[in-house]
Amino acid sequence: MANKHRIGIVGGDGIGPDVIAEGLKVIAATGVELDRVDYDLGGSRYLKDGEILPDGVIDEWRTLDALYLGAVGTPEVPPGVIERGLLLRMRFELDLYINQRPFIDPDNDIDMIVIRENTEGTYAGEGGFLRKGTPHEIATQGSVNTRLGVERAIRYAFELAATRPAKHLTLVHKTNVLTFSGDLWERTFNEVRVDYPNIDTAYNHVDAASIYFVENPQRYDVIVTDNLFGDILTDLGGAVSGGIGFASSANLNPGGVSMFEPVHGSAPDIAGQNKANPVAAILSGAMMLDFLGESEAAERIRKASADPQTYSGSTTEIGDQIASRV
Ligand code: IPM
Ligand code: MN
Repeated sequence: MANKHRIGIVGGDGIGPDVIAEGLKVIAATGVELDRVDYDLGGSRYLKDGEILPDGVIDEWRTLDALYLGAVGTPEVPPGVIERGLLLRMRFELDLYINQRPFIDPDNDIDMIVIRENTEGTYAGEGGFLRKGTPHEIATQGSVNTRLGVERAIRYAFELAATRPAKHLTLVHKTNVLTFSGDLWERTFNEVRVDYPNIDTAYNHVDAASIYFVENPQRYDVIVTDNLFGDILTDLGGAVSGGIGFASSANLNPGGVSMFEPVHGSAPDIAGQNKANPVAAILSGAMMLDFLGESEAAERIRKASADPQTYSGSTTEIGDQIASRV
């Protein structure tokens, strides 16, 4: 029997704790044992004692095998405080540079994975105000793109495409307008491509990709894109492949600790009503098991989750049904 995996759990806000509870229930049903370390973090913790991410917690996380997160953010806290102070700080400080988001809908022949660069772009926080609050106010928000950051995301996407039957990779950007960052992305893509002669490649502008996501998502296999385009496209990806309630994700540092979370947010409007769809969190749990080397258990979760009959009922009922099928 494998060693117990030590997992940091951040249920977070809104529906986060509820869907994570179902994910843990389903993992337990596989027989894979987790050693849980719980962290009370998110908007509600912040409202209690002003703490967003205590010093020391990040270092503790580095010693764990993985992190499993529900959702963070609550309407009582101004936008950005928890998102930047907790979720983005986590992505940046743990260098979770790959955000991997699969979209699979066998009924419609959709099977694509978006690789979103996860530490740079407009998310990096470059910018500021001048003359704030005056009629001459200026706000800038730069996009930070490093050769290292761009190249490691692109290389990861090529490696992933090489493991898949279609062996196809699309770069999505906006090179016709973002002539600096787009140029870096396109040049890097073209240089890295030489190392992968067996991968077919394509390029789409992000606006055109938004049409294809809706009208012909079947054309895609693996997609690589920057942080903000990836954020937007992956909500769209969820919407066209069964709904955001099924969209799972992995925030990966291939050389360190990684974090797994559903793509959806904290959905405060339905929090505590036992209404949220836990499948995205359950499938994110399966991605975590893959990453922990428990692929057989992960596959059982994916199979058990694939039956649309399990999608009716409350949060806990769906979790129970999937757990019993596992
Ligand atoms: C996501 C979310 C986050 C993001 C928010 C909550 C900061 O939308 O994981 O897609 O923008 O990355
Ligand atoms: Mn998002």
